[in-house]
Amino acid sequence: MRCSLSIPIAGVAVILASVAMASLAISQTSAKYTNVGKAPTQEEIKAWDIGISYDGGGLPPGSGTAKEGAVVYANNCVYCHGTDLKGVGAGTPNPIAPALVGGEGSLTTTRPIRTIGSFYPFATTVWDFVNRAMPRGRTRTLTPTEVYAVTAFLLYKNNIIKETDVMDAKSLPKVQMPNRNGFLPARIEDIADRKKRGCTRGQCPETTIPQ
Ligand code: HEC
Repeated sequence: MRCSLSIPIAGVAVILASVAMASLAISQTSAKYTNVGKAPTQEEIKAWDIGISYDGGGLPPGSGTAKEGAVVYANNCVYCHGTDLKGVGAGTPNPIAPALVGGEGSLTTTRPIRTIGSFYPFATTVWDFVNRAMPRGRTRTLTPTEVYAVTAFLLYKNNIIKETDVMDAKSLPKVQMPNRNGFLPARIEDIADRKKRGCTRGQCPETTIPQ
C-alpha cells in the first residue's frame, strides 16, 4: 500500500518538475521554435486592420447617399431592424435587433434608449460598426460604398443629414451628432466606494481620472 502510493506521488513530483523546467525553457527559447505558425503577410494584416478612428482615420474610398442606402437597408437589414428602424422585438425579452432610431431625451431617464440619434457621439462609429459587424451573420459582405450609403440612410432617418447629402471619407467625420457633447470625463468623486477613491479621515481627493 505504501509502495503503490509513493509511486504516483513521485510521478506527480517529476511531472511538476518537468512542467516547471519546460516553462523555463519556453520563456528562454520560444524564438527558436520552428514550424509553429507563420508571420502574417501584409495583406493578411491589412484584412484585419479595419478600425476607423473617430476623426475618420482609416476610412476607405467610396461614397453614398441615403437614397442609395435605402436599397442596401431593404436588402440586408430590414428583416432584423424593421421597416420603421425600431428593431424587430426591441424592448421585448427576446429582441431580434435593437432600434436604430429614436430615444432622444431618454438618456437622463431610468430607461435610456441608446441609438445612433440619441447616443453615438461620432458618425464614424456607425460606419465602423456596420462595416465590422453587420449584417449580423453575414459580416464583411458589404462594399465600402454600400457601407457609406447605408450609414447615410441611418443618419438621414435620425434627422441628422439630408437625403441627398453624400457621405464619404471627408464628409462623414464632419457630421455633428446630437449627443456629441453628452459625454463627460470620468471623475473620481463619481466612484461610490470611498476607499477606492482614496479617501482618508473623511477627506477625499477631487481629481479628474486621467484619460
Ligand atoms: C440577423 C439580424 C440582423 C441583421 C440582418 C442586421 N442586424 Fe444590425 N444588429 C443586430 C443585432 C442583434 C444587433 C445588436 C448588436 C449585436 O448583437 O451585434 C445589431 C446592431 C446594429 C447596430 C448598432 C446599434 C446600436 O444601438 O449601437 C447598427 C448600427 C446596426 N445593427 C446596423 C445594421 C445594418 C446597417 C444592417 C444591414 C446592413 C444590419 N444591422 C443588419 C441584428 C441584425
